[in-house]
Amino acid sequence: MKRVLPDLIVDPPLADEKVTIVFHADGKQYDFPVLGGTHGPKVIDVGRLYTETGYFSYDPGFMSTANCDSAITFIDGERGILLHRGYPIEELAAHADFLEVCYLLLYGKLPNQSELHDFGDLIGHHSMVHEQFKRFFAGFRRDAPPMAVMVGTVGALSAFYHDKIDITDPEARMVATHRLIAKMPTICAMAFNYSLGRPFLYPRNDLSYASNFLRMSFGIPAEEYVVNPVLARAINRFLVLHADHEQNASTATVRIAGSSHANPYACVAAGITALWGPDHGGANEAVVNMLEEIGSKERIALYIKRAKDKEDPFRLTGFGHRVYKNYDPRAAILRESCHEVLAELGKKDEPLFALALELERIALEDDYFIQRKLFPNVDFYSGIMLRAIGFPTGMFPPLFALGRTIGWIAQWKEMIEAPDQHIARPRQRYTGPPLRPYLPIAQR
Ligand code: ACO
Repeated sequence: MKRVLPDLIVDPPLADEKVTIVFHADGKQYDFPVLGGTHGPKVIDVGRLYTETGYFSYDPGFMSTANCDSAITFIDGERGILLHRGYPIEELAAHADFLEVCYLLLYGKLPNQSELHDFGDLIGHHSMVHEQFKRFFAGFRRDAPPMAVMVGTVGALSAFYHDKIDITDPEARMVATHRLIAKMPTICAMAFNYSLGRPFLYPRNDLSYASNFLRMSFGIPAEEYVVNPVLARAINRFLVLHADHEQNASTATVRIAGSSHANPYACVAAGITALWGPDHGGANEAVVNMLEEIGSKERIALYIKRAKDKEDPFRLTGFGHRVYKNYDPRAAILRESCHEVLAELGKKDEPLFALALELERIALEDDYFIQRKLFPNVDFYSGIMLRAIGFPTGMFPPLFALGRTIGWIAQWKEMIEAPDQHIARPRQRYTGPPLRPYLPIAQR
């Protein structure tokens, strides 16, 4: 996909730029430094706000609060721009293998041919799980949601690699990141096969990351699995598009969990938990359920009306984003992938896709959505593509987790290595009862 990106303006702070807060009650003034990044809004450093003024800042949901420095991903939500280490997502989605993107996010540069080859070898070296690990699956009910199985089993990795991790050792940190990239497809495919009662397949290191995952998901031991290159390309793209998205809820969760120097596998399990919700990575599943509920083009108007009704809890899932106030560039690429996959599988007339296209068209012409800048997000088309490939809705969030693992672990590593790393400990505004004496039980 070719898109001409506007120039991003670099707006460094003026030397010694400051913001002054004046308290009207007593006229006292305090200066706070302004810091600039490579792109994006400058930030006011309020780290000393409490010690200097006795006030906390208050920002539920982090509407205006930057939680860290990060050199991994940049989003300009107003203009629909997403960059990883400076590279536009459109170019990465069009050309890069997922392992190339993993390398880029982890090491900060695109690998050359031999670096990519060595990295692939390294990841392949870690792609199997301990044989004993399989027993964790047997503890789950067969109808357990695969995402629940992912939370449990990825968390269980921490039991296998606990004593061996000294997170103050850069080498040990790097091994943990490699293990997670390598084992996540194996675990994700195991969760899928377990839900179907099918045997687990071992990984094949001669295949690409996406092809290996497809084979582990849909292959059976009794037959050779022939990878369809169009589907492998679609899965590769899906993974690239989900690789990282700066400080979203699940990534922030991984950073916060990791800030206490907890085991990184357990931190990633926490990220999977945060991702699961329908307002985040569970939305891809919810979109398909919503489209099925809408059922036909004639009923779209009814659901648009419901989405706009503040008395009705229904929202148009797959629409709207905290950061994007423009078309999510990932949604546009996934819409294209839907066309490719459906054509390849002879499902060009897939009714759910036609319905989604029509829903998008109608919503984007509606004043409510225009005024609030609500556009399709990454989840709007991904589920349709995954379903056509053969994944049931319950597997959509685990697939999102598979792609996002590299973002979580790259950001975890960046957080641990930050020179000003502190345990994350937000403050609060207390609104409970005032101080009161304990009443003996007989007097209550
Ligand atoms: N349908 C209808 N109205 C919506 C929608 C929607 N999908 N999204 C936002 N709005 C409305 C809100 O009601 C609000 O209206 P108001 O100003 O009249 O009160 C306005 O648009 C602003 O929305 P907020 O909820 O304040 O935006 P916020 O940044 O808090 O929420 C969110 C973003 C959670 C993604 C929201 O758009 C939403 O619920 N979307 C549907 C769920 C979804 O698709 N989630 C996936 C997000 S992408 C990801 O995590 C991978």
